[in-house]
Amino acid sequence: MKELPSIEQLVPKHVAIIMDGNGRWAKQRGKIRTSGHKAGAEAVRKAVAFARRNGIESLTLFAFSSENWKRPAKEISVLMELFMSVLKSEIKKLDDNHICLRIIGDKGAFSKRLQRQMNEAEQQTRSNSGLNLNIAANYGGQWDITQASRKLAEKVKANEIDPAEITEQAIAGELMMADQPLPDLLIRTGGEHRISNFLLWQLAYAELYFTSVLWPNFDDTVFARAITDFAQRERRFGLTSEQLTVLMQDIETRIEE
Ligand code: IPE
Ligand code: IPE
Ligand code: MG
Repeated sequence: MKELPSIEQLVPKHVAIIMDGNGRWAKQRGKIRTSGHKAGAEAVRKAVAFARRNGIESLTLFAFSSENWKRPAKEISVLMELFMSVLKSEIKKLDDNHICLRIIGDKGAFSKRLQRQMNEAEQQTRSNSGLNLNIAANYGGQWDITQASRKLAEKVKANEIDPAEITEQAIAGELMMADQPLPDLLIRTGGEHRISNFLLWQLAYAELYFTSVLWPNFDDTVFARAITDFAQRERRFGLTSEQLTVLMQDIETRIEE
């Protein structure tokens, strides 16, 4: 009999997550929206640990979109403080776990203090190779494609390339995370079925997984369910679904251990 693939082969290389539903989670509990963001930060910790443990190469989390500036000033300022304190308190742990942190997005709009903290965290973890953790902050898919186009236009202006050399590959090479595998699985929590201007180019072939679970309730079981679903859709490796079920039970047992 043909050998079964390893669990590592079934796990996506790059998972991107739209972490939605913090506000509704808080509302359900009669609390203010920002308490949902605080609970959401806990769920981020769990998701990162899960990805690290299960051999996912890259995890990209949508933390703040370019459209989120339209929210009430108070909510924005709590979110900024939360980024700041989480960066400060978690960076050593990320480094100890060999996680390479990168902030993707237009950092220029953040306070100087936050930008400094972001840059320091990136510097400290830059040579780690355990897991690429990309935090999308002030990120928009349209912004990403625009900044890539601008870089290429500058190269044309400097006579480094010819307009004919602006190919799909050239654009892809200037996008955020060009050095990482493309996301093969997108998860969106919170029940909406849209991309909300997240990774537009990079998601061209990703499997999309939507769950109504609100982000603060996201845990290992929900993550494992998304991976199981992905493996069944995408990575059959010519196996029957019965064989896959056996393998997936194995993954879930490992997670429970
Ligand atoms: C996602 O949760 C977190 C951010 C956008 C920062 P929301 O704050 O959008 O929560 P809902 O969608 O209102 O429940
Ligand atoms: C998407 O959630 C952005 C993040 C999770 C950071 P939103 O709640 O902002 O998206 P919409 O408004 O439902 O499209
Ligand atoms: Mg939302």
